Amino acid sequence: MLDLRRYVRDIPDYPKPGILFRDITPMLATPMLATPDALATATEALAKPFLDAKVDIVAAAEARGFIFAAPLAIRLGAGFVPIRKPGKLPFDMHSFAYELEYGTDELQIHVDGVKPGQRVLIVDDLLATGGTMEACCRLLEKCDAEIVGCSFLIHLVQLGGKERLNPYPVHTVLDYD
Ligand code: PRP
Ligand code: ADE
Repeated sequence: MLDLRRYVRDIPDYPKPGILFRDITPMLATPMLATPDALATATEALAKPFLDAKVDIVAAAEARGFIFAAPLAIRLGAGFVPIRKPGKLPFDMHSFAYELEYGTDELQIHVDGVKPGQRVLIVDDLLATGGTMEACCRLLEKCDAEIVGCSFLIHLVQLGGKERLNPYPVHTVLDYD
């Protein structure tokens, strides 16, 4: 079994002093025909608890969330709905402002991106303070979606983001203390 942790690169003091950046780009660079393939392994790990959850839609925030969301949607036989930063969506949208580990931002979703009652799994590369995923949950609640869970490749445990996502099930693949 491929050790996904080997494909996460640590960059100290990026994007500002005191932040240890967990970089997932090495995980994407394995040739897809290589065995085992890191992105395929990551996709399988993200999907594992949700294989029988009848997921209609995988939703994710740009940019890194998108990378894992598309293969995950294919794996689960689901659609994909983008959650975007301001100025990117062309149709009517819901908005929610939130705080990052290193700044603030706002996310938006098309009002008709998810139909009421659709079962949605939200995915991201990394859970830090939980602000991004909490914003995604609030946006999907505005769409009257049924959130079946949140799936992350990396969990920065000490930042306490998981608690902000109550009561939704949270699945994390790689936990970092
Ligand atoms: C990163 C990461 C998560 C978020 C996690 O995205 O991809 O979405 O931060 O942090 P949080 O749990 O404290 O919200 P970022 O906003 O840096 O944008 P990017 O994906 O465009 O790099
Ligand atoms: N997003 C928020 N905090 C991060 C970190 N420490 N590494 C990579 N992405 C992040």
